[in-house]
Amino acid sequence: MTLVNVQRLVKRFNSAAAVDRLTFAIEEGRCVALLGPNGAGKTTTLKMLAGLLAPTEGEVRFASNADKTAPGTLRPSADIRRFIGFLPQYPAFYNWMSGREYLIFSGRLARMPKKEAKLRTEEMLRTVGLEEAGNRRIGGYSGGMKQRLGIAQALIHRPKLLLLDEPVSALDPIGRREVLEMIRLIRKETTVLFSTHVLHDAEEMCDDILIMNKGRIAVAGTIADVRRQYSEPVIRVQAESPLDESVERWRDFAFVKEIESGRYEARLAVTDLEEARTRLWSDLGERGIPVVRFEAGRTTLEELFMKAVKA
Ligand SMILES: Nc1ncnc2c1ncn2[C@@H]1O[C@H](COP(=O)(O)OP(=O)(O)O)[C@@H](O)[C@H]1O
Ligand SMILES: [Mg+2]
Repeated sequence: MTLVNVQRLVKRFNSAAAVDRLTFAIEEGRCVALLGPNGAGKTTTLKMLAGLLAPTEGEVRFASNADKTAPGTLRPSADIRRFIGFLPQYPAFYNWMSGREYLIFSGRLARMPKKEAKLRTEEMLRTVGLEEAGNRRIGGYSGGMKQRLGIAQALIHRPKLLLLDEPVSALDPIGRREVLEMIRLIRKETTVLFSTHVLHDAEEMCDDILIMNKGRIAVAGTIADVRRQYSEPVIRVQAESPLDESVERWRDFAFVKEIESGRYEARLAVTDLEEARTRLWSDLGERGIPVVRFEAGRTTLEELFMKAVKA
């Protein structure tokens, strides 16, 4: 079932479009990565989804059975805050509060009755592994602990969709690990959309990716589909002597689409992998080039990502 449908969403600040006619859907139960370099429009998109920023144009529609009224239909979102949990990119905490107090406070803000807020707080402290630290002041928490508290805050009212804006970008390797493990648990129960500028996080955690660049979606789909659809045959060569002359010769081969080269290495996007493999290999042999590495394969997701965000 489609949980959220985003249609031609636009956000302009002054005149420039930070988000430019964005269209995508989020299916219930999926974990989706919103991937893109700084300035791509990720935060702006997430804020519009969270209802914190009004779109200039377009709309965000939520499945109305998110509140159990008419199953299946999508409607323009009135007050969607109940369905959404949001962890901002730069969350601000009251450092003088304890983690426990903060979660109860967040539950009350989400209009939970006091007793329920307290019960849910205990549950969330356990979920994010902060039960021991619950009575300590937030000011003394590590970065990873603060982020986990932020996730607990975002989940306190049992939202349908959890939005996390670069949840691991500011963390050290240990904090990253903690928070990624956390998301891995949460995604079993809640639909998650999180932004990142690190492809590896997306690959490791998600079912689907949306690659954004300059306010637009450059690539979208399941990770497996994207790999399949966008990967191209490629030959990588590395040698002990300079490859400049060879590269010049290779440019004339009909099966070569594009060459990127350094002095001792080259990467050739080709149309026919078999032909390229045979011809290039014998070319190198005939010229007696001391080959260190010769690889015939397909472009990686990393290469696709770099290409998508350079455009
Ligand atoms: N409040 C704002 N006023 C003006 N420009 C903004 C504002 N917020 C974001 N932008 C601009 O919109 C673009 C997208 O920003 P943002 O959504 O923060 O990208 P990301 O989160 O992918 O780094 C950037 O060029 C940024 O400078
Ligand atoms: Mg951002």
